[in-house]
Amino acid sequence: MAESTAVADSSCETLIVAIDGPSGVGKSTVAKALAQLLEVPFLDTGAMYRSVALAVMEGRIDPANREAVERLASGLDLQLAPRPGSDGLALEVLLDGETVEERIRTPEVGALTSIISVYPAVRQRLVELQREAGRTFGAVVEGRDIGTRVFPQTPHKFFLDADPRVRAERRQRQLAEHGTERELDEVLGKMVERDRRDSQREHSPLTHDASYQLIDTTRLTTDEVIERLRRAVAEVAVRDR
Ligand code: DC
Repeated sequence: MAESTAVADSSCETLIVAIDGPSGVGKSTVAKALAQLLEVPFLDTGAMYRSVALAVMEGRIDPANREAVERLASGLDLQLAPRPGSDGLALEVLLDGETVEERIRTPEVGALTSIISVYPAVRQRLVELQREAGRTFGAVVEGRDIGTRVFPQTPHKFFLDADPRVRAERRQRQLAEHGTERELDEVLGKMVERDRRDSQREHSPLTHDASYQLIDTTRLTTDEVIERLRRAVAEVAVRDR
């Protein structure tokens, strides 16, 4: 496959593609498909922050208690395990050796996640795990700070954005697929609040710089976005060869 010649993150020898952007923009769908095309695993870093939030919730820890949350996060048994699926290879988050995929997708966990993800020690722990997995396997990595903080050296950085209402509709559909029905206005309100927190936090806020390629997905189909990314990765590979 042509894309396997794509240049690696210069800090390591594996191919890293960073996909950042706000919630509901379609990062997961696109990142999964791109990972399959590039024959590297897909890593959803949001799932890692959600897993810490789940542990906070299940441990009945006050999310506002930074010290308690940071202590919990540093001792958590969190692993990223390669799992082949019908849509390619994913680095699955295991909490205490168990899958959390269904339990982390509730709006409650989502709201808690944006509170605990501002804590520096929580971020540090997860960033280390992400870098280690990236170095080992290579990956298409989606999140909020992948190109700015986790893998700043990679030449493959994309920032996806879309109209908030369109993103809320996509998120509403995603929740419904996981069995949770919510009103659009409620989803939109929570999303705007989460975006505000993610963008304004002190440590690793959601942002991008000139090293990113910006893609507004409001009027693009999923396939169009995937094709743009695939082509951009291949072009960088040719340019840097
Ligand atoms: O992508 P998502 O909606 O599953 O992310 C859940 C939350 O995790 C979101 O509020 C921001 C946070 N997050 C983060 O702070 N940094 C990342 N790299 C990924 C997610």
